[in-house]
Amino acid sequence: MRVPAKVNVQLAVGGVRPDGFHDLANVFLAVGLYDHVTAAPAGPGAGCAVTCEGPGSDRVPLDRGNLAVRAAELLAAHHGRAPDVRLHIAKDIPVAGGMAGGSADAAGALLACDALWGTATPRHVLLELCARLGSDVPFSLVGGAALGRGRGELLTEVPVSGTFHWVFALADGGLSTPEVYRACDRRRGAAPVPEPEPDPALLAALREGDPRALAARLANDLQPAALALRPSLADTLAAGRAAGALAGLVSGSGPTCAFLAADADAAAALAASLEASGTCRAARATTAPASGAVLR
Ligand code: C5P
Repeated sequence: MRVPAKVNVQLAVGGVRPDGFHDLANVFLAVGLYDHVTAAPAGPGAGCAVTCEGPGSDRVPLDRGNLAVRAAELLAAHHGRAPDVRLHIAKDIPVAGGMAGGSADAAGALLACDALWGTATPRHVLLELCARLGSDVPFSLVGGAALGRGRGELLTEVPVSGTFHWVFALADGGLSTPEVYRACDRRRGAAPVPEPEPDPALLAALREGDPRALAARLANDLQPAALALRPSLADTLAAGRAAGALAGLVSGSGPTCAFLAADADAAAALAASLEASGTCRAARATTAPASGAVLR
């Protein structure tokens, strides 16, 4: 299964809920960086084993801390069967990078196991299982562009025209999503937090395929917290803007920084400038929207 990364073009974060999550207005866009997840048969009683290769794979847990393992076990339990499978993850999505790599692996594992075991799980059930695994997992399955409400798992499709050109500045090491949310809460203190609402101008920019209008509306409420935890990201954002990006922002909870470019040539030049700037580990140019999880 090939599963895309995401960038949040709008991440509006509400107050903390009684369950510890935050209500969101989360506009997801799937982008052309992919993990590949494969499932191979394992003998009776073998359980679920996982191997991983690619950049940062030494930081990927190979036990139940891996969301792909939990996905295989959840699907097996749903069908009352043993979770005997050998999963392999070839990573290209930055690990703990704010681009939903772990969620992508979970969505990929669900589909790969469903195909291997012949369990033919209906799409709406797969989406329910995804939501139980994590807030971003349903979006990894569907891809494209979507508005996520609730904690991000309640999706409605968002229409998009044309192709948007992005450059991602990859950082060394990751950031912990719960830590970034906690830092966001601390920074807000006791101030009242408005209900998160999707931005109509941003949705119009996506619908019309207008990169300049989208650039003007990119917004991430987690960005100040991510910058406080990783101050060097301010240099990365400044380098991208100086090199001609239409706009830049921290992707999700970071530390990957995302830059919108006017076209493919501008994106290639921006990626080269960012790499030369020394403010990131690597820079990758790609396009959006990308398809959701597909057999590949
Ligand atoms: O849903 P997921 O397991 O990906 O969330 C990871 C962590 O991110 C949660 O444990 C929580 O700390 C934080 N989170 C949140 N509000 C959301 C989504 C995630 O506080 N809407």
